[in-house]
This record gives sequence, C-alpha cells and structure tokens, in this order.
Amino acid sequence: MSLILDKINYYYGKGTAFESAALKNISLAIPDGEFIGIIGHTGSGKSTLIQHMNGLIKADSGSIYYNGKDIYDKDFKMTDLRRKVGLVFQYPEHQLFEATVIKDVLFGPTNMGMDKLKAELAAYGALKAVGIGDDLIDASPFELSGGQKRRVAIAGVLAMSPEILVLDEPTAGLDPAGRTELLNLLKEIHETKGITVILVSHSMEDVAEYAERLIVIDEGEIKYDDEPRKVFAHADELRKMGLEIPQCTELMGKLADAGLNVDRSCLTVEEAVNSIIGAIS
Ligand SMILES: Nc1ncnc2c1ncn2[C@@H]1O[C@H](COP(=O)(O)OP(=O)(O)O)[C@@H](O)[C@H]1O
Ligand SMILES: [Mg+2]
Repeated sequence: MSLILDKINYYYGKGTAFESAALKNISLAIPDGEFIGIIGHTGSGKSTLIQHMNGLIKADSGSIYYNGKDIYDKDFKMTDLRRKVGLVFQYPEHQLFEATVIKDVLFGPTNMGMDKLKAELAAYGALKAVGIGDDLIDASPFELSGGQKRRVAIAGVLAMSPEILVLDEPTAGLDPAGRTELLNLLKEIHETKGITVILVSHSMEDVAEYAERLIVIDEGEIKYDDEPRKVFAHADELRKMGLEIPQCTELMGKLADAGLNVDRSCLTVEEAVNSIIGAIS
C-alpha cells in the first residue's frame, strides 16, 4: 500500500493571463505507516499538494499511483481513493452542518454506501478515537467548544476508515493547550490504528516533535525530504524560506556555538534538558 507522486506539475489559471505554477516537478513516495510533516510558508503550495493526493485536483502533468495503480487511468475508481486518503480541510468545523454530532460523523460513511449498522459502528469508533464521549453524541455541534468541534470533524473523516489521514493546518486557531491535545491525539491515532498521518503546517514547533519525516516545500518545490533533525541542520536556508527552526533546536545551537558540549540537534524540551544536564554535570 503506498502513494507515489511522480513529477507532478500544477498551474492555477492554466491557459489564462493569470497562469501561475503552484507545484513544480513534485516527486514523493508515501509508504504505509509513516507520520509525515509537510511544512512550508503560506502560499508555498501545501494545500494544493495534498488535494492532489486524493484526486480533488488533477495534475497538469505527471502521474500519481495508488497501490501501483495510475489514478488518472480512466478505469481507476476515484471514489476508492477519496475514501482511502481522508482529507481534513483547514477549519473543518466550518463544515459541520447536521443537527447532532453523531449525524455529522455518520454522513461520510452513509454517503459512501455503508449499511446502517456498519456506519454506526464506524462513527462510534471514530468518536471514541478522537476522545468525544457518549454524553456529547446527541449534542448539537454548535454546543461544543472549538477544539471539540474540530475533533468531531476529524472523526467524520476517520469514520470512513482511511489508510492515509491528511490534515491541513489542523492546529490553526487553537490555543497552546488545544494544540498539544490535538497533536497528541493524532500521534495516538497513528500509533494505535497504524494509519499514515500527513500533517500540514507552517509551524516547525508543531511538526518537530511528532513527525518522523519532514517534507519542506517552498514556491511549489520540495526543498527537503528527510528526518526532522537533518532538515533542521539547514537553519539558514529554512529562515530564507520564512520558516523558523524549533526554539529548542535554536537554543541548543547557540549553546553549542558558545562552547557548551550539548547536542545541537535536540528537538524537544526534554531532550534539551537532558543534554544540558549531561554537559554541566
Ligand atoms: N484557487 C486558486 N486560484 C489561483 N491561485 C491559487 C488558488 N489557490 C491557491 N493559489 C495560489 O497557489 C499558490 C499555492 O497556494 P496553496 O497551495 O494554498 O499554499 P499553502 O497551502 O502552502 O498556503 C499560492 O501562490 C496561491 O496564491
Ligand atoms: Mg494552505
């Protein structure tokens, strides 16, 4: 099971005076089970890229293969891809529209033709996975907090049992506590369900701690595709793209420059603390 993008190019306004290249020669392989961060400045092409992954946008050139099948073949069933690659849009809670939480989460599975019992099991399972308790199942989405609404919206996609869960800026607009809670939730879903998670963000702090692989995109091109530590080693280049390295990594770099024998590739506060204690004791 894998998704492969091969030399994808995409232009907005193709053939018009406003034609502009949004994706340039993007090649990527997404094997099963990874937790990937896609990072880039606003306007770098992140949202355009992920909409190619489930066929919502069709590339102007290049190919996409899902489990070895060319998704642009006329026999390819795009509805299968839409189900297997679940896309959670930015501010997904704006798309909650049913009278109750459960009805909202049932919408996707029912719409794709699951029978009632199966759909209900999937919906209850998804709500449980995102930490929405039974007491809220019949509540109106409008009674929920911002963080809860967002989790209900994610449950709506999870209920379709995707193999790949792609989330576009899922922490946008959340306070720091809500942000940590949501990121931990994604980590748990990734670990317990074994789903591939693709987290799109413009914040290094969001992805540093969670992603095993980082894809940095700038002006529609992939600049780095590597382990976070290796990507953060390019601090100056990242800054030129309008991206900050995590504060922890930055601090450790400065301590190392000042002569302290610490690990400059630390990604989390915990790692930094251990490294500093090791250096001074
Ligand atoms: N519907 C659209 N029509 C024309 N240009 C667009 C449209 N959507 C995005 N773009 C342009 O394409 C580029 C990439 O945008 P986008 O994929 O939304 O980036 P990101 O998600 O990283 O902020 C930007 O220059 C943006 O202005
Ligand atoms: Mg975007």
